[in-house]
Amino acid sequence: MDKLIIDGGNPLRGSVQISGAKNAALPILVATLLAPGEHELHNVPELVDVSFMLSLLGRIGCPSLVGDGKGPECVRLDTSRVAFSEAPYDVVRKMRASVLVLGPLLARCGRAQVSMPGGCAIGTRPIDQHLKGLEALGCTFELDGGYIRGKVDQLVGAEINLDMPTVTGTENILMAAVLAEGESVIRNAAAEPEIVDLVRFLRSMGARIRGEGTSTLEIDGVPALRPARRPYSILADRIEAGTYLLGAAITGGDVMAKGAPAEEMSAVLEALEATGCEVEVTDEGVRVSRSGPLRPVSIETTPHPGFPTDMQAQWMALMTQADGTSEVLETIFENRFMHAAELIRMGAKIQIAGNQAMVEGGDLKGATVMATDLRASASLVLAGLVAEGRTEMLRLYHLDRGYSHLVDKLKTLGAEVARVPDDVRVTTGKAPAATAAV
Ligand code: EPZ
Repeated sequence: MDKLIIDGGNPLRGSVQISGAKNAALPILVATLLAPGEHELHNVPELVDVSFMLSLLGRIGCPSLVGDGKGPECVRLDTSRVAFSEAPYDVVRKMRASVLVLGPLLARCGRAQVSMPGGCAIGTRPIDQHLKGLEALGCTFELDGGYIRGKVDQLVGAEINLDMPTVTGTENILMAAVLAEGESVIRNAAAEPEIVDLVRFLRSMGARIRGEGTSTLEIDGVPALRPARRPYSILADRIEAGTYLLGAAITGGDVMAKGAPAEEMSAVLEALEATGCEVEVTDEGVRVSRSGPLRPVSIETTPHPGFPTDMQAQWMALMTQADGTSEVLETIFENRFMHAAELIRMGAKIQIAGNQAMVEGGDLKGATVMATDLRASASLVLAGLVAEGRTEMLRLYHLDRGYSHLVDKLKTLGAEVARVPDDVRVTTGKAPAATAAV
């Protein structure tokens, strides 16, 4: 395994190209199962989670080709044949998003067998709403040996009221409803931009959907879908963009996130402006700079278009540098403060009470810290960029799931950062040249 070494103190300056959105790419890759044939996707981020999903699709019988002379963000998939309708435990346990094959496999094959996705660091993350919606469409399920076995003769349109706006729950149900007989309505649907991107992709294959970006999706089922006539390009990643822009804010730098989807980032950009940062939206992307003090700004995570839970950990790191105390309220997941303990080990003054964290500004000192989940590790990177001295972050594989070419992008922005095998002891002096580009 590798670790990250960061020597803090350099303001991030320059521009960084934002990659395709992980949470749009994953459902769109799976949606290709709905339309037998060859698909071509562009702006697919080079991430471990994308590789996991492509290997799962390969095991289902759908080979893929990455790059093919058109660059590593181009992925071609052949979903002409589906040999197995199973997502095995050894894949699902590594990536919860594998559960997204449930809806498409039921729609394509009339049956599916998916390992129950266990919980993860940030919560139990049940899938009861996924099953509730698919059952309303005519599917039946049984739980056997840790697997969900589902089957359906004919999907039939239905009205589905979700108990909460679950993102992948909405996606799973939507991907089945598009091939159901008749009309479906999904109420209290999630409205995240990644769902809007999935709807656009499904529409490019002939699906008939209305209401994307709102809490009510209306679907007119069609008998079949076919691969899109033109390659589909994945939406830019608003969370990756937000993470680099917070890098500018926390280090007192000036960063242009090229291709950042500003219109999908208003809650984060407004919060950044409230701290006193300069926020500029241009045709090229979003630019954030800070020269003065950082004002404390409290946030509460809520479903889109509110402040995204996937930016909460990064915001907490930023608020450790504010002139005063701020509150961070996490309302989506029950255990998403794992980064707080590691930030405290760097000298942060944070008090946790349930889903509320009170953060008091102060200095951070480099330390050896442990990543616990994807966005917690992003939070620790931000803290290391501004901490005095050296930070070593272990379990770098968490970051590789959601941030492509992180070391290269940070070095381009002037950070002193390197990736080394975690058994390498790096003494004093500058961080060694990066040993592997991520
Ligand atoms: C998606 O996860 C994202 N992952 C997460 O991003 C993101 O944090 C989350 O949405 C919220 O925005 C992908 O899109 C691959 P939920 P998802 O279902 O769909 C409860 C990242 O860092 N719930 O919207 O699993 C659940 O426990 C990842 O990129 C049920 O109770 O999240 C949670 O409290 C982390 N029953 C809340 O709803 C269900 O059937 C929201 O979860 C489903 C969800």
